[in-house]
Amino acid sequence: MSLILDQRQQAMLREMKVRYLQAPQRALAAPTVQKPVAQLAEPAPATVNFVAEAPQSQVQARAATGIELMEWDALAKTVAECRACALCNGRRNTVFGVGDRQADWLIVGEAPGEIDDLQGQPFLGQDGLLLDNMLRALGLNRRQKVYIANVLKCRPPGNRNPEPQELAQCEPFLRRQVELLQPRIILAMGRFAVQAMLQSTEPIGKLRGQVHRYNGVPLVVTYHPAYLLRNLADKGKAWADLCLALEVLEQPPVSGS
Ligand code: URA
Repeated sequence: MSLILDQRQQAMLREMKVRYLQAPQRALAAPTVQKPVAQLAEPAPATVNFVAEAPQSQVQARAATGIELMEWDALAKTVAECRACALCNGRRNTVFGVGDRQADWLIVGEAPGEIDDLQGQPFLGQDGLLLDNMLRALGLNRRQKVYIANVLKCRPPGNRNPEPQELAQCEPFLRRQVELLQPRIILAMGRFAVQAMLQSTEPIGKLRGQVHRYNGVPLVVTYHPAYLLRNLADKGKAWADLCLALEVLEQPPVSGS
């Protein structure tokens, strides 16, 4: 597939280490064929396809816990002291989230890894380096216009997969973070983040390429950076997901939405 890439898109591909071929010099000289050809990359869909948010009746019944009224500091303290599931027994730190509390972008991962648990911050490992490259590709970094959080605030022992009831138990913290932050776009990375936020068991491949909503905020699904490190060929798809998220962000707000 060939794409016409503007300079920003080419920079995004370079930051994410997605290889693309510039059309040969000879062809570039010809006025009509100035087309760099992307390898691996899929284009973002031409039209932004919004998916209706699951009605509240389909979303798990939420008991009033007080979390929904907390401000940032109270919420962070409640997370730090949380003993609602067994993950608290093995954690060294909770990982609340990091970044700009006025951010347009909310990046949601799955759960802290070992180094994150040690230091109390998300995405400090190799997958975090790729995430940083992805953010740089968007002209962002993790301290400006971006907030990064996980659906699980504690590390599952040995990095095992999160249990559904652990995700359900922790999700109200993320929901409140979204309410406080009011981001303009959410990028949900990886199966567990996506399934917890969208209440869906569909694979990522089926949920990509559409704009979902979480608590009314547009949400774009993409692969987890740890998955991308193991499956380099899918970096192009992640790039298309970033393009879609950027496209949503750049759309003028629709009044009443
Ligand atoms: N570290 C995080 O904070 N989240 C992930 O999903 C993976 C590693």
